[in-house]
Amino acid sequence: VQELEDMIKNIKEKMGKKLFIPGHHYQKDEVIQFADVTGDSLKLAQLSAENREAEHIVFCGVHFMAETADILTTESQKVYLPDMRAGCSMADMADIYQTERAWEFLQVLFGDTILPLTYVNSTAAIKSFVGANGGATVTSSNAEKMVRWAFSKKERLLFLPDQHLGRNTAFNIGVNLDEMAVYNPIENILEYDGPLEKVKVILWKGHCSVHENFTVENISHVREAYLDMKIIVHPECSREVVALSDQAGSTNYIIEAIEASPAGSSWAVGTEMNLVNRLISQHPDKQIISLNPHMCPCLTMNRIDLQHLAWSLDSVIQGQEINLIKVDEETAFNAKLALNRMLEQS
Ligand code: 13P
Ligand code: SF4
Repeated sequence: VQELEDMIKNIKEKMGKKLFIPGHHYQKDEVIQFADVTGDSLKLAQLSAENREAEHIVFCGVHFMAETADILTTESQKVYLPDMRAGCSMADMADIYQTERAWEFLQVLFGDTILPLTYVNSTAAIKSFVGANGGATVTSSNAEKMVRWAFSKKERLLFLPDQHLGRNTAFNIGVNLDEMAVYNPIENILEYDGPLEKVKVILWKGHCSVHENFTVENISHVREAYLDMKIIVHPECSREVVALSDQAGSTNYIIEAIEASPAGSSWAVGTEMNLVNRLISQHPDKQIISLNPHMCPCLTMNRIDLQHLAWSLDSVIQGQEINLIKVDEETAFNAKLALNRMLEQS
């Protein structure tokens, strides 16, 4: 471990500002210690868009985040992912063929009344589709703002690929649950009982395999076992879990809420385990637990480890373009439209 850490320190020192290492909050501590910036997906997208100094960006996050960084940086800036297997199971729940098929089907049902929005946790191809159809990306930090924006343009929206973030966000801005339909991409059907004219939001039937593990039973357990413990969860959790929690918000929102709370506060946190463990060690004056004691970290995020980071940096300093993330020009053009519409609103 010491050897790998020394190697990374040396490479960082030699490359200086030519090298930029963004790290998502869900990354392991062994990786986060070398990140130049840490943040949620919105902050990392904004910082990638602003950074014109770095020639090499070694992205410690998952594949869709590295794609976003590539789309928002210039042609000469190179983005790498230390392990190509670091994907996102939610992003994999919507592919471009399913999306095109869904769009055709929905146009038949609703005509030209729908605007597509996609969570940034989606492939560049989906972002490009959304951008080409007038829509935008969203992150969990700006979802409400973007859903309101979408409603200022069209009477309905299609929200990809996370049904929970879509449902929680639409609910928060006043859309009733019976005005939301679920699109099932496997069967190409709309799961909805009411009259079609009532539908305002069409939710893609996708979810996060990490946040889905927080349950109503976990909430009941915490309420019974701990007096005065506040429950805070990420909006990728189900509607039922969010409704029974005290607070819900993006990764950044959770961090800030806990930071701002007085010493002695106690929190049950419903988000990724690496972040919860970091919050526990950063706030010894507060009682912090995971909402689900059997929670695992995001396994794909965790594929980026010290070894992969060291190996990736070593290949970069040797001028090899291993694990380069390159979105083709045509896809990038429309995906950038979708991303920029979001960044302008944020
Ligand atoms: P945020 O970083 O936007 O909170 O998203 C959480 C997440 O699941 C990232 O994959
Ligand atoms: Fe994807 Fe969920 Fe992991 Fe985020 S936490 S990368 S949404 S699987």
